[in-house]
Amino acid sequence: MRFKQAINDVISMKHYLSLSELSATEIKNLLDLAISLKAAFKSGGNTPILQGKSLALVFQKPSLRTRVSFEMGMVHLGGYALMISPSEVKMGVRETAADVARVLSGYVDGIMARVFNHDHVVELAEYASVPVINGLSDYNHPAQALADLLTMVEYKGDLSGLKVAYVGDGNNVVRSLLFGGMQTGIDLRIATPAGYALSEDDYDAADQLKNGPAAFKAFTDPHEAVRDADVVYTDVWTSMGDEAETEKRLKVFPPYQVNRQLVAGAKENAIVMHCLPAHRGEEITAEIADGPQSVVFHQAENRLHAQKAILATLLAD
Ligand code: CP
Ligand code: NVA
Repeated sequence: MRFKQAINDVISMKHYLSLSELSATEIKNLLDLAISLKAAFKSGGNTPILQGKSLALVFQKPSLRTRVSFEMGMVHLGGYALMISPSEVKMGVRETAADVARVLSGYVDGIMARVFNHDHVVELAEYASVPVINGLSDYNHPAQALADLLTMVEYKGDLSGLKVAYVGDGNNVVRSLLFGGMQTGIDLRIATPAGYALSEDDYDAADQLKNGPAAFKAFTDPHEAVRDADVVYTDVWTSMGDEAETEKRLKVFPPYQVNRQLVAGAKENAIVMHCLPAHRGEEITAEIADGPQSVVFHQAENRLHAQKAILATLLAD
Protein backbone atom coordinates (compact mmCIF):
# COMPACT_ATOMS: atom_id res chain seq x y z
CA MET A 1 0.00 0.00 0.00
CA ARG A 2 1.29 3.41 -1.01
CA PHE A 3 1.29 5.05 2.42
CA LYS A 4 2.00 1.93 4.45
CA GLN A 5 5.66 2.63 5.14
CA ALA A 6 4.98 6.20 6.22
CA ILE A 7 2.27 4.95 8.56
CA ASN A 8 4.50 2.26 10.01
CA ASP A 9 7.13 4.89 10.73
CA VAL A 10 4.86 6.48 13.37
CA ILE A 11 5.31 3.38 15.40
CA SER A 12 4.31 3.79 18.99
CA MET A 13 1.17 5.89 18.60
CA LYS A 14 -1.86 4.17 20.15
CA HIS A 15 -3.90 7.32 20.80
CA TYR A 16 -3.49 10.97 19.87
CA LEU A 17 -3.92 12.91 23.11
CA SER A 18 -0.93 15.25 23.34
CA LEU A 19 2.10 16.07 21.21
CA SER A 20 4.16 15.66 24.37
CA GLU A 21 3.48 11.91 24.15
CA LEU A 22 4.95 11.59 20.66
CA SER A 23 8.60 11.58 19.74
CA ALA A 24 10.12 14.24 17.51
CA THR A 25 10.51 11.59 14.79
CA GLU A 26 6.87 10.62 15.04
CA ILE A 27 5.78 14.25 14.68
CA LYS A 28 8.05 14.65 11.67
CA ASN A 29 6.65 11.45 10.15
CA LEU A 30 3.09 12.61 10.74
CA LEU A 31 3.91 15.89 9.00
CA ASP A 32 5.50 14.05 6.07
CA LEU A 33 2.45 11.82 5.81
CA ALA A 34 0.14 14.86 5.88
CA ILE A 35 2.18 16.41 3.06
CA SER A 36 1.92 13.20 0.97
CA LEU A 37 -1.80 12.84 1.62
CA LYS A 38 -2.35 16.48 0.73
CA ALA A 39 -0.40 16.13 -2.53
CA ALA A 40 -2.41 13.01 -3.43
CA PHE A 41 -5.67 14.80 -2.66
CA LYS A 42 -4.72 17.90 -4.65
CA SER A 43 -3.81 15.80 -7.67
CA GLY A 44 -7.16 14.02 -7.51
CA GLY A 45 -5.71 10.73 -6.30
CA ASN A 46 -7.76 8.31 -4.26
CA THR A 47 -6.38 7.11 -0.94
CA PRO A 48 -9.02 4.67 0.34
CA ILE A 49 -6.80 3.28 3.09
CA LEU A 50 -9.57 3.30 5.70
CA GLN A 51 -12.20 1.44 3.69
CA GLY A 52 -14.81 0.00 6.04
CA LYS A 53 -13.45 1.90 9.07
CA SER A 54 -15.63 4.08 11.24
CA LEU A 55 -14.95 6.97 13.60
CA ALA A 56 -17.25 8.37 16.29
CA LEU A 57 -17.00 12.15 16.71
CA VAL A 58 -18.04 12.99 20.27
CA PHE A 59 -18.51 16.70 20.92
CA GLN A 60 -19.11 18.44 24.25
CA LYS A 61 -18.41 21.85 22.66
CA PRO A 62 -19.25 23.46 19.29
CA SER A 63 -16.97 23.01 16.29
CA LEU A 64 -16.66 23.82 12.61
CA ARG A 65 -13.11 22.91 11.59
CA THR A 66 -12.57 19.91 13.86
CA ARG A 67 -15.90 18.33 13.03
CA VAL A 68 -15.71 18.85 9.28
CA SER A 69 -12.01 18.05 8.85
CA PHE A 70 -12.24 14.75 10.73
CA GLU A 71 -15.51 13.81 9.04
CA MET A 72 -14.31 14.65 5.53
CA GLY A 73 -10.93 13.11 6.34
CA MET A 74 -12.67 9.80 6.99
CA VAL A 75 -14.69 10.15 3.78
CA HIS A 76 -11.55 10.89 1.71
CA LEU A 77 -9.83 7.84 3.18
CA GLY A 78 -12.77 5.59 2.34
CA GLY A 79 -14.21 5.39 5.86
CA TYR A 80 -17.24 6.68 7.69
CA ALA A 81 -17.72 9.19 10.52
CA LEU A 82 -20.59 9.43 12.95
CA MET A 83 -21.33 12.78 14.61
CA ILE A 84 -22.53 12.62 18.22
CA SER A 85 -23.66 16.01 19.52
CA PRO A 86 -23.17 17.29 23.10
CA SER A 87 -26.79 16.75 24.13
CA GLU A 88 -26.73 13.07 23.11
CA VAL A 89 -23.93 11.71 25.32
CA LYS A 90 -23.51 14.12 28.25
CA MET A 91 -20.23 12.44 29.12
CA GLY A 92 -19.58 12.55 32.85
CA VAL A 93 -23.24 13.41 33.52
CA ARG A 94 -25.44 10.79 31.84
CA GLU A 95 -22.67 8.20 32.00
CA THR A 96 -18.97 8.05 32.69
CA ALA A 97 -16.30 8.54 30.04
CA ALA A 98 -15.13 4.99 30.86
CA ASP A 99 -18.54 3.58 29.96
CA VAL A 100 -18.80 5.72 26.81
CA ALA A 101 -15.38 4.38 25.78
CA ARG A 102 -16.30 0.73 26.35
CA VAL A 103 -19.64 1.04 24.57
CA LEU A 104 -18.29 2.94 21.55
CA SER A 105 -15.39 0.46 21.22
CA GLY A 106 -17.97 -2.19 20.32
CA TYR A 107 -19.39 -0.10 17.48
CA VAL A 108 -16.58 1.90 15.87
CA ASP A 109 -12.88 1.66 14.98
CA GLY A 110 -11.88 4.99 16.54
CA ILE A 111 -13.14 7.81 18.74
CA MET A 112 -12.45 11.50 18.33
CA ALA A 113 -13.59 13.55 21.33
CA ARG A 114 -13.82 17.26 22.10
CA VAL A 115 -14.25 17.67 25.83
CA PHE A 116 -14.28 20.32 28.55
CA ASN A 117 -12.30 18.38 31.11
CA HIS A 118 -9.06 16.89 29.79
CA ASP A 119 -9.44 13.99 32.23
CA HIS A 120 -12.38 12.80 30.14
CA VAL A 121 -10.34 12.29 26.99
CA VAL A 122 -7.65 10.56 29.05
CA GLU A 123 -10.31 8.30 30.59
CA LEU A 124 -11.72 7.53 27.14
CA ALA A 125 -8.26 6.42 26.01
CA GLU A 126 -7.74 4.35 29.14
CA TYR A 127 -10.96 2.38 28.71
CA ALA A 128 -11.41 2.26 24.91
CA SER A 129 -10.10 -0.71 22.99
CA VAL A 130 -9.91 1.51 19.89
CA PRO A 131 -7.71 4.59 19.28
CA VAL A 132 -8.85 7.87 20.84
CA ILE A 133 -8.05 11.27 19.31
CA ASN A 134 -8.18 14.51 21.31
CA GLY A 135 -10.16 17.07 19.30
CA LEU A 136 -9.57 19.79 21.96
CA SER A 137 -9.87 19.88 25.71
CA ASP A 138 -9.48 22.67 28.25
CA TYR A 139 -5.82 21.58 28.45
CA ASN A 140 -4.66 21.25 24.85
CA HIS A 141 -5.49 21.05 21.13
CA PRO A 142 -2.97 18.71 19.49
CA ALA A 143 -4.96 18.16 16.29
CA GLN A 144 -4.77 21.92 15.70
CA ALA A 145 -1.05 22.05 16.44
CA LEU A 146 -0.22 19.44 13.81
CA ALA A 147 -2.02 21.54 11.18
CA ASP A 148 -0.20 24.62 12.49
CA LEU A 149 3.20 22.97 12.10
CA LEU A 150 2.23 21.78 8.62
CA THR A 151 1.29 25.36 7.69
CA MET A 152 4.60 26.71 9.01
CA VAL A 153 6.52 24.08 7.01
CA GLU A 154 4.66 25.10 3.86
CA TYR A 155 5.28 28.82 4.29
CA LYS A 156 8.66 28.85 5.97
CA GLY A 157 10.33 25.53 5.12
CA ASP A 158 12.45 24.25 7.95
CA LEU A 159 10.89 24.58 11.43
CA SER A 160 14.29 24.40 13.08
CA GLY A 161 15.08 27.81 14.59
CA LEU A 162 11.85 29.37 13.27
CA LYS A 163 10.86 32.33 15.46
CA VAL A 164 7.20 32.00 16.40
CA ALA A 165 5.47 34.57 18.61
CA TYR A 166 2.19 33.65 20.26
CA VAL A 167 0.28 36.61 21.69
CA GLY A 168 -2.80 36.29 23.89
CA ASP A 169 -4.24 33.84 26.37
CA GLY A 170 -2.04 31.04 27.77
CA ASN A 171 -4.56 28.42 26.70
CA ASN A 172 -5.03 24.97 25.14
CA VAL A 173 -3.86 26.10 21.68
CA VAL A 174 -0.54 27.59 22.77
CA ARG A 175 0.12 24.65 25.10
CA SER A 176 0.04 22.25 22.13
CA LEU A 177 2.05 24.70 20.03
CA LEU A 178 4.66 24.76 22.81
CA PHE A 179 4.94 20.97 23.03
CA GLY A 180 5.01 20.44 19.25
CA GLY A 181 7.27 23.45 18.79
CA MET A 182 9.90 22.19 21.21
CA GLN A 183 10.12 18.83 19.44
CA THR A 184 10.45 20.45 16.04
CA GLY A 185 13.12 22.99 17.04
CA ILE A 186 10.97 26.13 17.11
CA ASP A 187 12.02 29.28 18.99
CA LEU A 188 8.69 30.14 20.66
CA ARG A 189 7.97 33.44 22.39
CA ILE A 190 4.75 33.58 24.37
CA ALA A 191 3.27 36.92 25.40
CA THR A 192 0.38 36.81 27.85
CA PRO A 193 -0.99 39.24 30.40
CA ALA A 194 0.08 38.56 33.99
CA GLY A 195 -2.18 35.88 35.42
CA TYR A 196 -2.84 34.27 32.02
CA ALA A 197 0.54 32.63 31.39
CA LEU A 198 1.15 28.92 30.97
CA SER A 199 2.14 27.15 34.18
CA GLU A 200 5.55 26.14 35.50
CA ASP A 201 4.50 22.53 34.87
CA ASP A 202 3.95 23.36 31.20
CA TYR A 203 7.38 24.93 30.93
CA ASP A 204 8.99 22.01 32.77
CA ALA A 205 7.33 19.59 30.34
CA ALA A 206 8.44 21.75 27.41
CA ASP A 207 12.02 21.72 28.71
CA GLN A 208 12.07 17.93 28.49
CA LEU A 209 10.88 18.05 24.87
CA LYS A 210 13.47 20.49 23.51
CA ASN A 211 15.16 19.35 20.36
CA GLY A 212 17.92 21.07 18.33
CA PRO A 213 17.63 24.88 18.58
CA ALA A 214 14.22 24.71 20.31
CA ALA A 215 13.69 27.45 22.86
CA PHE A 216 10.84 29.20 24.60
CA LYS A 217 10.52 32.44 26.49
CA ALA A 218 7.57 33.98 28.30
CA PHE A 219 6.85 37.71 27.96
CA THR A 220 4.27 40.14 29.22
CA ASP A 221 5.15 42.72 26.54
CA PRO A 222 3.72 41.55 23.19
CA HIS A 223 5.98 43.93 21.24
CA GLU A 224 9.08 42.30 22.70
CA ALA A 225 7.72 38.85 21.91
CA VAL A 226 7.04 39.56 18.22
CA ARG A 227 10.34 41.32 17.51
CA ASP A 228 11.83 39.76 14.33
CA ALA A 229 9.34 36.88 14.46
CA ASP A 230 8.72 34.73 11.37
CA VAL A 231 5.23 33.84 12.58
CA VAL A 232 2.75 35.79 14.73
CA TYR A 233 0.01 33.59 16.20
CA THR A 234 -3.03 34.45 18.27
CA ASP A 235 -6.25 32.89 19.54
CA VAL A 236 -9.44 34.07 21.22
CA TRP A 237 -9.19 35.80 24.59
CA THR A 238 -12.03 33.72 26.02
CA SER A 239 -12.03 30.02 25.22
CA MET A 240 -15.08 27.78 25.17
CA GLY A 241 -15.98 27.05 28.77
CA ASP A 242 -14.52 30.35 30.09
CA GLU A 243 -17.46 32.50 28.96
CA ALA A 244 -18.25 33.67 32.51
CA GLU A 245 -14.92 35.57 32.41
CA THR A 246 -15.59 37.34 29.11
CA GLU A 247 -16.16 40.83 30.56
CA LYS A 248 -13.12 40.61 32.81
CA ARG A 249 -10.93 39.39 29.96
CA LEU A 250 -12.15 42.11 27.61
CA LYS A 251 -10.62 44.63 30.03
CA VAL A 252 -7.28 42.83 30.42
CA PHE A 253 -6.42 41.68 26.90
CA PRO A 254 -6.67 44.74 24.56
CA PRO A 255 -2.89 45.49 24.73
CA TYR A 256 -2.43 41.98 23.27
CA GLN A 257 -4.43 42.63 20.11
CA VAL A 258 -2.65 41.49 16.93
CA ASN A 259 -2.91 44.65 14.86
CA ARG A 260 -0.85 46.59 12.32
CA GLN A 261 1.41 48.18 14.94
CA LEU A 262 2.21 44.86 16.58
CA VAL A 263 2.82 42.95 13.34
CA ALA A 264 5.11 45.77 12.14
CA GLY A 265 7.62 44.62 14.77
CA ALA A 266 7.87 41.14 13.24
CA LYS A 267 9.88 40.30 10.12
CA GLU A 268 8.59 41.95 6.97
CA ASN A 269 7.66 38.56 5.51
CA ALA A 270 6.11 37.24 8.76
CA ILE A 271 2.92 35.25 8.44
CA VAL A 272 -0.03 35.69 10.79
CA MET A 273 -1.82 32.63 12.12
CA HIS A 274 -5.01 32.05 14.11
CA CYS A 275 -6.65 28.69 14.80
CA LEU A 276 -10.12 30.28 14.28
CA PRO A 277 -12.85 31.09 15.10
CA ALA A 278 -11.60 34.71 15.21
CA HIS A 279 -13.16 37.70 16.87
CA ARG A 280 -12.16 40.60 14.64
CA GLY A 281 -11.74 43.74 16.71
CA GLU A 282 -10.72 41.75 19.78
CA GLU A 283 -7.62 39.51 19.57
CA ILE A 284 -7.00 40.44 15.91
CA THR A 285 -8.02 43.32 13.70
CA ALA A 286 -9.97 42.66 10.50
CA GLU A 287 -7.17 44.41 8.61
CA ILE A 288 -4.64 41.81 9.78
CA ALA A 289 -6.92 38.74 9.76
CA ASP A 290 -7.93 39.46 6.17
CA GLY A 291 -4.68 41.08 5.07
CA PRO A 292 -1.79 39.84 2.91
CA GLN A 293 0.24 38.34 5.76
CA SER A 294 -2.65 36.26 7.08
CA VAL A 295 -2.60 32.53 6.32
CA VAL A 296 -5.58 31.67 8.52
CA PHE A 297 -7.71 29.99 5.86
CA HIS A 298 -4.80 28.00 4.51
CA GLN A 299 -4.14 26.97 8.12
CA ALA A 300 -7.80 25.97 8.52
CA GLU A 301 -7.64 23.94 5.30
CA ASN A 302 -4.57 22.15 6.62
CA ARG A 303 -6.66 20.76 9.46
CA LEU A 304 -8.04 18.34 6.86
CA HIS A 305 -4.64 17.07 5.74
CA ALA A 306 -3.15 16.90 9.23
CA GLN A 307 -6.18 15.08 10.58
CA LYS A 308 -5.99 12.57 7.72
CA ALA A 309 -2.40 11.76 8.72
CA ILE A 310 -3.53 11.07 12.29
CA LEU A 311 -6.48 8.96 11.13
CA ALA A 312 -4.42 6.95 8.65
CA THR A 313 -1.75 6.29 11.27
CA LEU A 314 -4.14 5.17 13.98
CA LEU A 315 -6.79 3.34 11.97
CA ALA A 316 -5.16 1.75 8.89
CA ASP A 317 -4.63 -2.03 9.03
N1 CP B 1 -9.77 25.62 15.32
C1 CP B 1 -10.77 24.79 15.70
O1 CP B 1 -10.58 23.78 16.39
O2 CP B 1 -11.98 25.13 15.20
P1 CP B 1 -13.37 24.51 15.64
O3 CP B 1 -13.58 24.88 17.07
O4 CP B 1 -14.39 25.14 14.73
O5 CP B 1 -13.32 23.02 15.47
N1 NVA C 1 -8.86 28.32 22.63
C1 NVA C 1 -10.05 28.13 21.85
C2 NVA C 1 -9.76 27.33 20.62
C3 NVA C 1 -10.92 27.08 19.72
C4 NVA C 1 -10.56 26.25 18.55
C5 NVA C 1 -11.11 27.43 22.70
O1 NVA C 1 -10.76 26.50 23.43
O2 NVA C 1 -12.26 27.84 22.64
